[in-house]
Amino acid sequence: MSEDPRNIISPSTQDPGEKSVEEALMPRGFGEFVGQDKVKDKLSMFVEAARGRGESLDHCLFYGPPGLGKTTLAYIMAREMGVDIRKTSGPALEKQGDLAALLTNLPDNAVFFIDEIHRLSKNVEEALYPALQHFYLDIIVGQGPSARNIRLEVPKFTLVGATTRAGFLTGAMRDRFGILERLNYYGIDEIERIIIRSSQILKIEVEPGGARELAGRSRGTPRIANRLLRRVRDYAQVKSDGRITAETARAALKMFEVDTKGLDEMDRRILGCVIGKFDGGPVGLGSLAVAVGEEEDTISDVYEPFLIQSGFLMRTPSGRKATRLAYDHLGMKGYSDREEELF
Ligand SMILES: Nc1ncnc2c1ncn2[C@@H]1O[C@H](COP(=O)(O)OP(=O)(O)OP(=O)(O)O)[C@@H](O)[C@H]1O
Ligand SMILES: [Mg+2]
Repeated sequence: MSEDPRNIISPSTQDPGEKSVEEALMPRGFGEFVGQDKVKDKLSMFVEAARGRGESLDHCLFYGPPGLGKTTLAYIMAREMGVDIRKTSGPALEKQGDLAALLTNLPDNAVFFIDEIHRLSKNVEEALYPALQHFYLDIIVGQGPSARNIRLEVPKFTLVGATTRAGFLTGAMRDRFGILERLNYYGIDEIERIIIRSSQILKIEVEPGGARELAGRSRGTPRIANRLLRRVRDYAQVKSDGRITAETARAALKMFEVDTKGLDEMDRRILGCVIGKFDGGPVGLGSLAVAVGEEEDTISDVYEPFLIQSGFLMRTPSGRKATRLAYDHLGMKGYSDREEELF
């Protein structure tokens, strides 16, 4: 992944220090979780109903672009249900035995959180199915002629899965979830509320104009909003009196090369490449990845969703295409000129 220090959107810039700040900023209950009102209303109703019946909650899947609150919601669900949570991820569960070790040690009714659930291996996924429906595991122990099948009972639990790529889940896996919720990009007002909340927790002085300026450039993503807030605080501390005004926010974001639409250096490189090197597209993901020097997965999971959502890029069957908005935004006149020539 890119190590470019100007790139403050890429997940590769997440260091351990940032992780602990993220934890401090993590909403602890539905009351602190800003926005996504429809999702929140449904989830809190499901929690209330399950609690009322004294049952564990149905298995839940949260999907959507990075940094929108999927992990946060998994923790909130556990907290609101009043149960423990155990966390793992698709790639960490390599063998059926790994799954068995975790499941057999779960406290009763716990939330079992699998991040990146689309990356579960096939045999782990298959071992998981009976556990989800009937709370037992069939595990093969040993190899060759001495291999045998043992059945293990597991405590009742709620699986919460999270993924940025719901399309990569098998149909069988998807069907096992009783609750499936997509998280969407947040509106500017919601991001502004998140920035104000975070600034209070981190004791950063932010003027309303400063919060607005940051919110507009956070790509509708809480994680980015929180990150910009901290970077701009550094700027304000060194270059002025520490307060984030609209003016300091603008100056800082200019220095960090986050533009008025919230695009960073890599976003512009992607659009610039589609336009400059591939004549506006269509271009395949593989060629684009090589051209910009970034991994395919990072482009499709981290950058593309926002570029598509905000109308800069189109995904067509023959590849990615830049839109007129992209040409206009980057100040490249090619598209409109060519179009006028053509018609
Ligand atoms: N609705 C929200 N209100 C306030 N803060 C939020 C909200 N959603 C997310 N955050 C903040 O954004 C950060 C990122 O959220 P989270 O880690 O839950 O995202 P994610 O969807 O799991 O991302 P990824 O796909 O990368 O795992 C959290 O630390 C949390 O502080
Ligand atoms: Mg997460």
